[in-house]
Amino acid sequence: MINDIEKIILDKETIERRVEELAQKITNDFKDKFPVIICILRGSVIFFSDLIKRIDTHVEIDFFSLSSYGNNSNSSGVVKIRKDIDTNIENRHVIVVEDIVESGLTLKYIFEYLEKHNPASLSICTLLNKPEVHQTDLKINYVGFNIENKFVVGYGLDYAERYRNLPYIGILKKEIYS
Ligand code: IMP
Ligand code: MG
Repeated sequence: MINDIEKIILDKETIERRVEELAQKITNDFKDKFPVIICILRGSVIFFSDLIKRIDTHVEIDFFSLSSYGNNSNSSGVVKIRKDIDTNIENRHVIVVEDIVESGLTLKYIFEYLEKHNPASLSICTLLNKPEVHQTDLKINYVGFNIENKFVVGYGLDYAERYRNLPYIGILKKEIYS
């Protein structure tokens, strides 16, 4: 797998430190609010599990999955729900945990869908963010790292369902996906 990586941009320790910081912020912001933390499958599963382990207040967890049409290295913004949440989030504080925001269209869809269930509040936490290519004005409350607009894999992020199990985040060699 390592031979397919052009450059490691975030190593294990760097990710760990940042996840700890985000968890502390979330702990402070949601102390005694018993938030529902929603993992967006499948890309955020590793980030999500590392994050919730470090949150030091009661939380409820749930899972949500979308399929998006379009090619693998680019989100088309056209989505379908594959797995809905099971929790009633009305009047609950909700935190959506995503792996990466590129155009922001995926999260915008999720945000608008969840908002219809009248949560008390709705926050977004993403591990990675590509601010150069945003196409929405969606407010992201917690960002792990702003990165440049390169296709990255590892720590949950995939290319064609591979590389999710890499313990770090790296730029995939162009020849792999072009
Ligand atoms: P958006 O809707 O354009 O914000 O795209 C978000 C989704 O596209 C993410 O949830 C990922 O599944 C996928 N994605 C975007 N950029 C990357 C990347 O660099 N590596 C892996 N997946 C990505
Ligand atoms: Mg995703």
